[in-house]
Amino acid sequence: MDTSQALPQVESFLEQNADRFVDELKDLLRIPSVSADSRHRDDVRQAARFVKERLEAAGLTAELVETAGHPIVYGEWTGAPGAPTALVYGHYDVQPPDPLDRWETPPFEPTVRDGRIYARGATDDKGQMYTHIKSVEAWLQSVGTLPVNVKFVIEGEEEVGSDNLDRFLEDQKERCRCDIVVVSDTSQYAPGIPAITYGLRGIMACEVTLHGPSQDLHSGVFGGAVANPANALARLIASLHDDEGRILIPGFYDNVVPLTPEERDGFAQLPFDEQEFLDGIGMTAPFGEPGYSTLERRWARPTCDVNGMISGYTGEGPKTIVPHYATAKITCRLVPDQDAKQLTENLRRHLEELCPPGLRMEFTDYHGCGAIVSDPTSGAMDAARRAIASAFGNEPVMIREGGSIPVVSTFRDILGVDTLLLGWGQNTDNLHSPNEHFRLDDFHRGTRASARLWAELVAST
Ligand code: BES
Ligand code: MN
Ligand code: MN
Repeated sequence: MDTSQALPQVESFLEQNADRFVDELKDLLRIPSVSADSRHRDDVRQAARFVKERLEAAGLTAELVETAGHPIVYGEWTGAPGAPTALVYGHYDVQPPDPLDRWETPPFEPTVRDGRIYARGATDDKGQMYTHIKSVEAWLQSVGTLPVNVKFVIEGEEEVGSDNLDRFLEDQKERCRCDIVVVSDTSQYAPGIPAITYGLRGIMACEVTLHGPSQDLHSGVFGGAVANPANALARLIASLHDDEGRILIPGFYDNVVPLTPEERDGFAQLPFDEQEFLDGIGMTAPFGEPGYSTLERRWARPTCDVNGMISGYTGEGPKTIVPHYATAKITCRLVPDQDAKQLTENLRRHLEELCPPGLRMEFTDYHGCGAIVSDPTSGAMDAARRAIASAFGNEPVMIREGGSIPVVSTFRDILGVDTLLLGWGQNTDNLHSPNEHFRLDDFHRGTRASARLWAELVAST
C-alpha cells in the first residue's frame, strides 16, 4: 500500500472528526467503571459494551469475552494478509475516585477546562486507549483499509491486577497472535518531551493483619499484659527498611539486575529539576536508597511501601483501648529479575517470625507481576519514534517508568512478543488522584501518532 497517498486522507478525517471524538470520550468517561468496587459491577460491564460498540463502529468485529471477573473486549480487523499484526492493549476500568470532596467537578461528569478534560479515567486509561480506536476508525472510514492487521484486547481488571487476563491469553493464544503489542497507558516524559517507555517495574501486593483480643479492650485494665496488635504491626513495618531506606526483606536484592553505566548515563542526560519535582508533590527533601538518583530510584530500583493501615480508634478525640486487630496493605515495586511469588513468600515468612506470642497473623497475597525491560533499538521502536516525532513535533526520549502494567510481562511470556509503551499523557495528569485530567492536545496528538504508527510499522517489522 502506498501510505504516502493515504496518510493525508487519514489526517483530514482526524481533523474533521476531532470534536466528535471528544464527545464520545466524554460518554465513556461518564460510566463509573470502578473495577475494585463490586457496587459498580454493572457500570463496568456497560463500559465494556461501549468499547465493543465503538470498535464495531470503527469497522472491526468485536465481542465481549466473559471471565471469572469483568469482561474483556476483543476486536479485530485482519484485512491485510501478509502485513504485520499489531495488538492494542488498554483498560476501560478505572481507580476509585476517592476522596470525592477533593474534586473540583465530579469525577464522572467529564468537564473541559483550560484545554483539559477532567474525569476519573481521562488519562488512565480511557482517553489514551481511545486514541487507538479512533485512529483505526480514521483509516477504515477514510481510506477503507489499514496498512497492518489490528487486534484489540481491552480489559476491565487492570486496576485490580489483571487476574483473569492471563487465562484469556493462554486460551486464546492463536487468536491473539501478533508481531507487536501497542499500549498507551504510560506518560510522556514532560510537557513537550514525548517518550517511549522501554521498561516498567513489576509489583507484589499483599495485606497483613495481626489479630489480638476478641474485641477492643480498656487499655488501662488490660494494657501491658497482652500484645497490642497496632504496636506489633508498627514493629513489623519498621523491620522492612533500614534507616536509609534499603529494604530488609530476606533475599530481596538477590536477583536484582544492576543498572548498566550506559543506562545510568541515559537517565542522567534527561532534563530533570529535582526542586521542581519536589515542589510539584509538596515535598521539601528527597529520600531513598543511598547511591541512586531520583530517576533511578523511581524507575529502576525496587521499593516497599505501606499503602494503608487500619487499626483501633480513628475518630475525634482520645480513646483508651487496646485494638483487637491491626492491618497494613503493602506493595513492593520490583525490577528485573526479581520474582514476585518468591518475594511474597519471603515477606510472609519474615513477618511471621516477628509476630509476637499471642497474636495471630493473617496474610493475603493479592497479586504480583514481574518487571520488564525491552530492547530500545528494535525496528518497532524506530517506527514508534518516527510516528511520535511526526505527531508531537519532537523526537521522543527513551525512558523507563516506575508504574506497572501486569500484562506486559505476560505478552512476552505467553505470546513471545514485545510491547511498545507509548504514553500520550503526563505524570502530572493526576492519575489515581483527585482531578484526573488529560490534555485535549495530547489526546489529538496521540490519535495522530497512532494513525501514523500503523503506516510506520509496515516499514520496520
Ligand atoms: N497506567 C498505570 C501504570 C502506569 C502509570 C505506568 C504511569 C507508567 C506510568 C496502570 O493503570 C496502573 O495504575 N497500574 C497499577 C498496577 C497494579 C494495580 C497492578 C500500578 O502501577 O499501581
Ligand atoms: Mn492504566
Ligand atoms: Mn492505573
